Amino acid sequence: MRWPKAGFVLLLLAFATKASALEYEPGNLEGVDQDMYLSKGLSAKIIARSGEPVAYFDGTSSTENFHSDPDGAAVFEDESEANLGGWVYVSNSEADFGNGGVGAIKFDPNGNVIDYKMVLTGTSRNCNGGKTDWQSWISCEEDLFGQGKIYQVDPFGEKDPVMIALGNQGGVWEAFAHDTRDPEVLYAFITEDTEDGAVQRMTYQNPNYTYAWDILIESAPLDYLYLEPANDSSGTFKWIPDEAEARANAESYYPSTEGMKMDGNILRVVSKGLEGFFELDLDEGNYTFEVPDFDGQPDQSTTVVQDDGSKLIYFTEEAHPFWGFFGSQVGLYTRDEAGEYTTILFGDDYSPETTGVAFSPDGLHMYFAYQTDGYLFDVTRTDGLSFFSPATPAEVTDDGGDESILDWIGGLLFPAAEGQDLP
Ligand SMILES: *[C@@H]1O[C@H](CO)[C@@H](O)[C@H](O)[C@H]1NC(C)=O
Ligand SMILES: *[C@@H]1O[C@H](CO)[C@@H](O)[C@H](O)[C@H]1NC(C)=O
Ligand SMILES: *[C@@H]1O[C@H](CO)[C@@H](O)[C@H](O)[C@H]1NC(C)=O
Repeated sequence: MRWPKAGFVLLLLAFATKASALEYEPGNLEGVDQDMYLSKGLSAKIIARSGEPVAYFDGTSSTENFHSDPDGAAVFEDESEANLGGWVYVSNSEADFGNGGVGAIKFDPNGNVIDYKMVLTGTSRNCNGGKTDWQSWISCEEDLFGQGKIYQVDPFGEKDPVMIALGNQGGVWEAFAHDTRDPEVLYAFITEDTEDGAVQRMTYQNPNYTYAWDILIESAPLDYLYLEPANDSSGTFKWIPDEAEARANAESYYPSTEGMKMDGNILRVVSKGLEGFFELDLDEGNYTFEVPDFDGQPDQSTTVVQDDGSKLIYFTEEAHPFWGFFGSQVGLYTRDEAGEYTTILFGDDYSPETTGVAFSPDGLHMYFAYQTDGYLFDVTRTDGLSFFSPATPAEVTDDGGDESILDWIGGLLFPAAEGQDLP
């Protein structure tokens, strides 16, 4: 009689485990998959590797190899008849010497990979970029000698790429964003990853959205961001025409800008130099600055408006320069509206920079890459729900919390000490 009973209990246990395994618990990093610590209720698979053909759902694969150094990325809905409901993930390649560009992976409406091709080639160090409102991707060259240009790219590869006016003087460009809230005036912004890289802005009066593709090709008045700090965490700002003055201001107050996103009336700008991010209120002319609660430095961000209307900001991470050398673990993090940070996942032996976090239009898939390894991941919830569906973070969060010197040393000595060993 003992065994059947035990069997029954085991069966019940199995069910209970299964049921709880279905729940997504952000920050409860008990899951292990693909050499990553994942929040409970997530699973991950690698869908592309640099230098290898991309495998398609039908068993065939791409003729072109997946690009190296995948960086900034975005998802575009496919509005074509042939793949209505599908989408494309465009991703910059930060490869040097004319080997960069933009690659595009196409998905069917069920999230299966059906195509891969380069939609911009012959450029270098395409780092970050940004999405426009008219189905185009802006890709910025981070040329270390200051000769980078900025291109507008058709995610579907039908229109030929064009250089845009912003940044055509050459620079170490990073990210693009635009403010299109007022139909009569469009502001376009770029960041530059140098100590004195002032955020640049072009102002287009009465943009002609019937031919939206053409708007950014034309030049428009240019000015630069100038901060007037009240203290370390807030202040006011203005836009000034004097480039030299703005560069001196950037060097003092917002050096080496990287990721940038427009989020309602907020322009979020990451400063790698300060390892934090600014939120510029474009309507009020004031800003806040914050250093996120995770070990490395924030880089790119994307805002998700969840089904209940609340916002979550997802951050990618770059290890501190010194740290990365020792194989620091980097991951993806969220910040909720109350300012709480949660670790969604982090890798063990992967390269020290995550990039290109973006979501499928239905929210069922989260994509991101480990840049130097050149692995692109597709992360899903095992409960089958969308990432837009709110989930309660676990009490235990974070891969090491604040940046005390002890954490640093601990991390160096025991790189995988914060979780179980990976297989
Ligand atoms: C937009 O551009 C097209 C083509 O040049 C032109 O025909 C149209 O009148 C323009 N619309 C506006 C509102 O200027
Ligand atoms: C910075 O200044 C703002 C506005 O005056 C104030 O609300 C805030 O508390 C100050 N923060 C610090 C850290 O002093
Ligand atoms: C700017 O000021 C407004 C009005 O005082 C305030 O509500 C808002 O939170 C401030 N925004 C930032 C980014 O500091």
